[in-house]
Amino acid sequence: MAAMSSFFLLIIGLFLVFTTTTTSFAELERFEEPAKGADGSLSFLVVGDWGRRGTYNQSQVSLQMGKIGEKLDLNFVISTGDNFYDNGLAGTNDPNFEESFTKVYTAKSLQKQWYSVLGNHDYRGDTEAQLDPILRKIDSRWLCLRSFILNAEIAEFFFIDTSPFVDSYFNTPEGHTYDWRGVTPRNNYIANLLKDVETALRESSAKWKIVVGHHAIRSAGHHGDTPELVKQLLPILQVVIN
Ligand SMILES: *[C@@H]1O[C@H](CO)[C@@H](O)[C@H](O)[C@H]1NC(C)=O
Repeated sequence: MAAMSSFFLLIIGLFLVFTTTTTSFAELERFEEPAKGADGSLSFLVVGDWGRRGTYNQSQVSLQMGKIGEKLDLNFVISTGDNFYDNGLAGTNDPNFEESFTKVYTAKSLQKQWYSVLGNHDYRGDTEAQLDPILRKIDSRWLCLRSFILNAEIAEFFFIDTSPFVDSYFNTPEGHTYDWRGVTPRNNYIANLLKDVETALRESSAKWKIVVGHHAIRSAGHHGDTPELVKQLLPILQVVIN
């Protein structure tokens, strides 16, 4: 969400099993990544706010990711969005895809599956282009969905599309145009998403439940908290212990 690029880790929440039950079912798409190694361990890197065609130190960060990725023997990489600055991708043919992704993350250790969500800057372009499976023909590592679940045995990851929660993008867009196709009507979109996330969290038996999204719920950074998420998402993530 930063205007200036910065690279940081976002692991928003780790919490325990919900104890109540529900009759609804989760509609979020699911992916599987088996843990590996004798100890069933899992290694991954998380990066966000990156697509700068190598500038803003993106290449230097990529180099270090490659080195640590080699040591860790990564299972996969997570991207928390703002994948392409300033305005997402213009279409599936936008050279920014290769210039900011394929040609930047070249280390051998990073040739793993990437799991990505959208950031607010991605919504300023052709949002559906980033979600289009055709991009996998250009770079097979790419996988970007609005919201989905990744089951990695000891950990289950819940990827959440957080941009539609933020009021200011709708009320005071400040000259930016957002591509909300697939998100409107907004209230329905958010309500369905929250219901699906709640159900999926409750049904998960993974030891670790990790929620990933572009906007921090709570943050000491200059953007601060995201009040819409504090109000709407955080209660769903609260630990229930009976
Ligand atoms: C790149 O990183 C260096 C060292 O942290 C910093 O001084 C410089 O401002 C960064 N460049 C950009 C364009 O962000």
